[in-house]
Amino acid sequence: MDLNKKNFSRDELVELLRTPVEEAQPLFDKALEIKRQTLGDEVYLRGLLEYSNRCAKNCFYCGVRCARKDLHRYEMTLEEVRSATRYAVENRFASMVIQAGERSNPAFVNSITRVLDCINRESNSSIAVTLSLGEQSEDTFRKWHDHGATRYLLRIESSNPDLYHKIHPNDRLHSYKKRVEALTVLQKTGYQVGTGVMIGLPFQTLEDLADDLIFFKEMDIDMFGMGPYIEHHATPLYPYRHLLLPEEERFWLSIKMIAVLRLLVNDANMAATTAMQTLYKGGREKAMLAGANVIMPNLTPLKYREDYLLYENKPGLDQEIEDTVKNLEAVIIGLGLTVGFGHKGDPQHFYNRIKKQSNAQKSTPPFTGES
Ligand code: 5AD
Ligand code: SF4
Repeated sequence: MDLNKKNFSRDELVELLRTPVEEAQPLFDKALEIKRQTLGDEVYLRGLLEYSNRCAKNCFYCGVRCARKDLHRYEMTLEEVRSATRYAVENRFASMVIQAGERSNPAFVNSITRVLDCINRESNSSIAVTLSLGEQSEDTFRKWHDHGATRYLLRIESSNPDLYHKIHPNDRLHSYKKRVEALTVLQKTGYQVGTGVMIGLPFQTLEDLADDLIFFKEMDIDMFGMGPYIEHHATPLYPYRHLLLPEEERFWLSIKMIAVLRLLVNDANMAATTAMQTLYKGGREKAMLAGANVIMPNLTPLKYREDYLLYENKPGLDQEIEDTVKNLEAVIIGLGLTVGFGHKGDPQHFYNRIKKQSNAQKSTPPFTGES
């Protein structure tokens, strides 16, 4: 298949995803070449804070779902946020991601506002903040944007509504339609918007994944965080683990998703996620060699990490933060790439999207009422 083209049919996408790993190197090489030509050699670091594991939702795949009463629930203190921010600034990270379970009560909304103010104050606004806090009202999205958050990650998890409803409870809190609407509201509010899916879910087909890629393109998404689904014993999806691909296959399918997405959307930011590292040693490196350009070292205090296990065998439970960053730098240079120290690394796709929108507005003649 000609890998140079921009548009692929659904069947072609399925065929690309079906490529046996032994034959997939040209696909990975093409994706890396496109990434280098469009965005250069830099890989951006985002300091990740797993701010709180309190969550009002009950996703069937997730180890911190609210039905888990045995889990110790925490929320980081502002002092801990401040100290992580200092660390990020000292280490020339120009970006942080605040992730937590989904809550929308006023106390939570205000606590995030204080976190944003704290990061801005402590970093002199030198840090671009991404939020990953689930579905919120338009007012809340706007409030957090006004307090300096410029990016928002909200994974669609699966763009197939039937599959979405299989992996979530059937209630108002877990509505596919609302999730898609939230992505649109985020774009309207002015955020750089990220989404993604889990790869290798039970009941998921290659056709579903091809449709996910088409959904990403149609929604004009700026940033992506995708990774393999990894089973967790304390979740309702665990009994279906016999349906899963073997770990290594699930891992390579995730890498193929990254590579094919890079062919489709050249200018977006794409993360090499921790879940990739969990299924395959050196997994994040493989992702970077297949077109990923973002990596998110975990800056969460070690004492909380055991309580933020969305899936099992997550690495980094006892690793010192300093080690992780030093290792990452060596690894990235070893791949022939560079670390974007001090660069916020906004997704180029965002600026291209805004330009496209304003050109479309300009080319629409004003309505005069005359024909
Ligand atoms: N395996 C892989 N990813 C998971 N997530 C939640 N649970 C799992 C799991 N078991 C992902 C979801 C969510 C993100 C924060 O973590 O995609 O959006
Ligand atoms: Fe909560 Fe997110 Fe886990 Fe769903 S995936 S239960 S929203 S933390």
